[in-house]
Amino acid sequence: MKFPIHACIFMIAMATTSEGAPRKFKYDDSRVPDISLPDPLKDVADAASWPARRAEILAMFEDRMFGKAPAFDKKAIKVTREIADKKFLNDTAILSQPLLHFAGCKVQLMIARPANPTGTVPAFLGYNFRGNHTVHEDPAIAIAGGWVPRAKNNKATEAQRGLSGSRWDIKEIIKRGYALVTVYCGDVDPDFHDKFQNGVHAAYGTPDAGQWGTIAAWAWGLSRILDHLENEPAIDAGRVVVMGHSRLGKTSLWAGASDPRFALVISNNSGCGGAALSKRRFGETVQRINSSFPHWFCGNFKNYNNKEDKMPFDQHMMLALVAPRPLYVASAEKDLWADPHGEFLAAKGADPVYRFLGTDGLPAGSMPAIDEPVHGRIGYHIRSGKHDVTPYDWKQYLAFADKHLKKSSK
Ligand code: GCU
Repeated sequence: MKFPIHACIFMIAMATTSEGAPRKFKYDDSRVPDISLPDPLKDVADAASWPARRAEILAMFEDRMFGKAPAFDKKAIKVTREIADKKFLNDTAILSQPLLHFAGCKVQLMIARPANPTGTVPAFLGYNFRGNHTVHEDPAIAIAGGWVPRAKNNKATEAQRGLSGSRWDIKEIIKRGYALVTVYCGDVDPDFHDKFQNGVHAAYGTPDAGQWGTIAAWAWGLSRILDHLENEPAIDAGRVVVMGHSRLGKTSLWAGASDPRFALVISNNSGCGGAALSKRRFGETVQRINSSFPHWFCGNFKNYNNKEDKMPFDQHMMLALVAPRPLYVASAEKDLWADPHGEFLAAKGADPVYRFLGTDGLPAGSMPAIDEPVHGRIGYHIRSGKHDVTPYDWKQYLAFADKHLKKSSK
């Protein structure tokens, strides 16, 4: 049975969310404060004046939320290929695993691409949480070195092979003519607070309040990987989709917002600091995210702890930075910690910019019903179920990518 989202939010009386968050957080739309969202099109008279406004919004997110990432000369990336390419997925794909060396890090790519393409292929690029070997059980996939979360002594093991496999519909991705490029996020910056001593931060000076946090470091790492993909002969670097789930969805959004080379941007259940509007204070709040994960954002973002009303920006403006490139925001019904309605409203808040730039934006006046996706230049769905990435989500992403990136499409 399907209910509108508002009904669902009132109906769900849970002591905790799927993330185990306590009751003191708001999970009820009727308790959301009256908010007014800053206008992303403020003082923008015509399309010619959008780039200046866009630059202003980007600088605001850099200064006050993520921190500014350093400039980088792509010629500084060194590539070694210690692992030979091999057939993969019953010979339907080729697996290659170049190792990138930049900013003192070794970043192990896993690239699965169709075995018999008719030309260069578009690709999905996304980080994984626990190592490439968790994405599929094939023993040829390199096991993550270094620190990994949720493992004995923080060491990756053979036993973990394929444990996140349900989140990566590789077979379908390959079948539909895309490559999948995935990387363990900890290769770029391990996900714990060490005052920015490790990962790529180590190569770039002393932290201050504007210091780029881990999400900015991860997003910057995705841009470095895209630098490399420009040299991968089988891949069309002009058609790379950046995709991420949860904290890595916050990352894919910031990567897509800050690097216009990403052709399409997907946020899966990204929540607070991702697609969800902070000013609603629904589920996870700015204060909570900054105290649980003090390394994710820059020091200046803490100025908005319990002061979301003072923010001169909100997440709809980050989504607007992607315009007019295709953007997909996905929520899950039970993922109240991530504020599904707030994720939808942010996409809706970006819609005027998409329309202003001549696209159809988000073709939904109000929150779509559960499992009824809408696909304009902005796509949105709220899936039944919990915080996760599922084959249902991939089905939407593939259809959306086909619509916008396949050469035969208009
Ligand atoms: C926590 C965090 C979220 C984040 C999630 C994840 O729940 O509070 O902001 O999205 O972890 O990345 O799994």
